Amino acid sequence: MEVGHQPVMPDEVLGTLAPQPGSLQIDATVGGGGHTERILEAASPDGRVLGLDADGAAVERVGRRLSRFGDRLVLRQANFSELAEVAPAAGFGAVDGMLFDLGLSSFQLADTDRGFGFRAGGPLDMRFDTSRGVPAAELLATLNADELAALFRRYGEEPASWRIAKAIVAARSTTAVGTAEELAALVERVVPANPRLRRRTHPATRVFQALRIAVNGELDALVAGLAAAVDLLRPGGRLVVLSYHSLEDRIVKQFLNAERRGCICPPEAPVCVCGHSPRLRLVTRPSLTPSEAEIDANPRARSARLRAAERLAA
Ligand SMILES: C[S@@+](CC[C@H](N)C(=O)[O-])C[C@H]1O[C@@H](n2cnc3c(N)ncnc32)[C@H](O)[C@@H]1O
Repeated sequence: MEVGHQPVMPDEVLGTLAPQPGSLQIDATVGGGGHTERILEAASPDGRVLGLDADGAAVERVGRRLSRFGDRLVLRQANFSELAEVAPAAGFGAVDGMLFDLGLSSFQLADTDRGFGFRAGGPLDMRFDTSRGVPAAELLATLNADELAALFRRYGEEPASWRIAKAIVAARSTTAVGTAEELAALVERVVPANPRLRRRTHPATRVFQALRIAVNGELDALVAGLAAAVDLLRPGGRLVVLSYHSLEDRIVKQFLNAERRGCICPPEAPVCVCGHSPRLRLVTRPSLTPSEAEIDANPRARSARLRAAERLAA
């Protein structure tokens, strides 16, 4: 049986985007197509969606699964950091709604050849787009202990980053740490599970998050994607972002606040010199989280946080 991906906070996403017939929407992270499918249904009979994903396998799968929407769904394999070029080229230069559902999908997690899950026995890759960049195993094999520790601290906020980095460097002098399974077991040996959190969080969660963020340049892509999104939204158009950990949520929150305030001068500046005017109004203040019922039905939703804003007239 094929694994599915349950879209997170679908009612809140749809309620906020409120897609109308005839509207144009962008799903910047199409994944399994769960949100896209609902947007297309809500925007019937003629609303259109541009669906992007860095992962070619996701784009192919969604193309097959949602073929019934015909040319109302346009799909592109692209990183959302390239939105500013990709969207206008696909005929989506000014849109009514834009969704970012960050991170990885259940399809990617379940694919043991890609190294996203702790029990994946295949190579530790972790790239969303397998045609570009450097797999996670290569970082583990080539970075020195200082660099590894800095990576785990910066992108995983991992308190035991130095101990883990040293253990990786020691282990690789005899055998490579080449699979997700090997890395998870190594971290578990160095940082045993906290018994209070045992059932909820694997001890390697932060290390895996850090590697995935580094391999995919996720935080830089988010900054570029959000900036492009605001430029592409029509006045009244809405931006919805679902994030899953504090590093990405912090970027979203700071971005929305800066665009809401208008002035982006540093706080110590005595007078405004940036000449920037507000371009967004916050729709969720401060943010929404999933209901207990949704978390029970879909544990992946547990850490989700939804922030949304509306584009003001220029
Ligand atoms: C959480 S899933 C999206 C699930 C989707 N909303 C659904 O309902 O099925 C996130 C997807 O975003 C993709 N992704 C992550 N970062 C990306 C980026 N910078 N550019 C394009 N796609 C990205 C991943 O490959 C993954 O398929």
